[in-house]
Amino acid sequence: MGRSRVGVGEPEKKGGMPVTQIVPVTDWATDFDVMDPAYLADPFRIWDDLRQTCPIPHTNRRKSSWMPLRYEDVTAIAHDIEHFSSLKVAVIPGDEDEDPNENFDGPNLEYGLPPISSDPPLHTWTRRLLLPWFSHKRVDTYVPMTRELCRTLLDGFADKGHADAAADYAQQIPVRVIARILGVSADLADTFTGWVRDVLEFADDAERRQRGAEGLLNYFLVQLEERRQHPGDDLLSELLCTEVEGQPVDDGIVLGMAALVLIAGVDTTWSAIGSSLWHLARSPEDRRRLVGEPELMPTAVEELLRAYSPVTMAREVTKDITYAGCPMKAGDKVLMNFPAANRDPEAFDSPDEVQLDRAHNRHVAFGSGIHRCAGSNLARMELTVAVEEWLARIPEFSLADGDEITWAGGQVRGPRILPVVFP
Ligand code: HEM
Repeated sequence: MGRSRVGVGEPEKKGGMPVTQIVPVTDWATDFDVMDPAYLADPFRIWDDLRQTCPIPHTNRRKSSWMPLRYEDVTAIAHDIEHFSSLKVAVIPGDEDEDPNENFDGPNLEYGLPPISSDPPLHTWTRRLLLPWFSHKRVDTYVPMTRELCRTLLDGFADKGHADAAADYAQQIPVRVIARILGVSADLADTFTGWVRDVLEFADDAERRQRGAEGLLNYFLVQLEERRQHPGDDLLSELLCTEVEGQPVDDGIVLGMAALVLIAGVDTTWSAIGSSLWHLARSPEDRRRLVGEPELMPTAVEELLRAYSPVTMAREVTKDITYAGCPMKAGDKVLMNFPAANRDPEAFDSPDEVQLDRAHNRHVAFGSGIHRCAGSNLARMELTVAVEEWLARIPEFSLADGDEITWAGGQVRGPRILPVVFP
């Protein structure tokens, strides 16, 4: 205890970009690192071993952090907002003393990205403002554009016999749907994706993290000013003219909410689509069953979300507490390992098996408690449409022999390069 940044070496330059060197983990119970290459490639065995021996491992890498792995612990902590705050939800923390406004010439960002990085009462009303945009009814109206988008993407490679199912397909879908909801240009999809990856996937690299955050915030600052002059029927325009208790919403809060919707809606869903295609590429039985029994799609989507849950979030301990024998100190981080909870044998029968018709499936891929995902209807719709359209066009496909698959992890886990071949 008491060491800081142990195990995380100095950044070195690779391909022009600084990358942080991870000192390989040898003791997962007391010195875990969610960015260790072994964890990125296959966290499942590590969780299984730890659940038997040390179900809430600890580390001092980056910051004193705990990582519950059992369903019961993850959900209990998610509901205990008195001891576990959402003010700092980054799994890979930046400099804790970083002033969000230091390099930013805009409104006050002290509220971060509400509702995700807030506790009540700010959380309650900012969440309420977002929810109508992701209701079932609203999400239904985005189905035709999502379907058309998937078909256009498939047109680009379906007759080539090979594709990168992550980069050419999964990655391209959510960012364009979210751009439409926010009322911003889908032409900038690659730029948005780059910023979101900088903030989440490359968060260990301070330079990249800052570049992504500044890119996002400066972009939305200009967009908000434009919406103020020329309001449309999009989410940004509506947030700008909303009043809460007779007062307009603070500009910094509107900016944080706009950035959150992009960050939360992009690589989460792209990762879920990518992991689902990865599973179907290597599981011919499941793939053929889904093609033959399309009515299974609703339970299949829930099962793929459970088995390959992409999102881990953090909490900050507000006051010293001993939880399940772990002496958690105020200021410690707790990594809410929703993906590990979804593989807990105490909560799911044969958790490592994908059962497309699993009937009892109370998974927590979308979290649990007051911060449960506000965009889950949209995410489910995108995942369903993306898989349906892929299977309609490319029912037979498999992983390309010998080509490397790369996985992103940390806060959001999913394949980033996924070469597949098909007849
Ligand atoms: C498969 C895709 C997705 C997964 C697995 C996922 C997962 C999650 C999780 C686990 C949380 C809880 C965070 C916490 O407890 O701290 C969350 C919150 C949130 N998600 Fe998602 N998400 C997905 C897609 C989306 C989409 C498409 C949107 C739309 C913009 C979205 C918007 C949000 C928002 C706004 C919150 C914050 C809710 C709050 O704090 O009250 N998510 N998501």
